[in-house]
Amino acid sequence: MEHSRISIIKGDIVEQHVEAIVNAANNSLLGGGGVDGTIHKAAGPGLLEECRKLNGCATGEAKITEGHALPASYVIHTVGPVWKDGKHRENELLSQCYHNCLRIAKKYGLRTIAFPSISTGAYRYPVERASRIAISEIVRFLGSDESIRNVIIVCFNDEAFRCYSAALDEIPEHRTNM
Ligand code: APR
Repeated sequence: MEHSRISIIKGDIVEQHVEAIVNAANNSLLGGGGVDGTIHKAAGPGLLEECRKLNGCATGEAKITEGHALPASYVIHTVGPVWKDGKHRENELLSQCYHNCLRIAKKYGLRTIAFPSISTGAYRYPVERASRIAISEIVRFLGSDESIRNVIIVCFNDEAFRCYSAALDEIPEHRTNM
């Protein structure tokens, strides 16, 4: 969906030529598997060195570093909630991740940012629910901000691509079959 300031693509987030990519990190910010591992591998050891100085990150919060060897100039690290049962503020915390990443991007004057599907891998957040929360927070934020020009959601598998595309299609001004 390219019709607006939000685009959904399938691909690898480390290859995105945007100003900032978002990392789905853990509370230590010292790397891990999944997209966290791929980003650290592509960015090189300088990223971990910089992360060591950040003293971790609370769930729902976000912290920014340089992009190091990545094409992106910055990495915004956020820690999504681990899915339990939907009764432990998972929705609220996931929404906070997207909000805080966008808030930092705006503060740094960034115009393009790419997100992975936060919490839907090792943290087992159901991707259909997560996609609706992500899209509604991104749309809400962009509704009150003109500076961020393009938010890209980089899906690593077909299921995520389908869910995020469907979630975007549910937003009236983005509906493609008008
Ligand atoms: N580009 C884009 N998306 C990716 C990539 C990639 N290179 N690699 C994985 N993904 C996708 C996964 O398919 C999933 O849809 O990112 C989404 C998030 O999955 P995880 O990386 O497992 O992240 P998350 O579920 O938030 O769990 C975070 O996993 O890697 C550890 O250190 C991390 O402890 C933290 C936990």
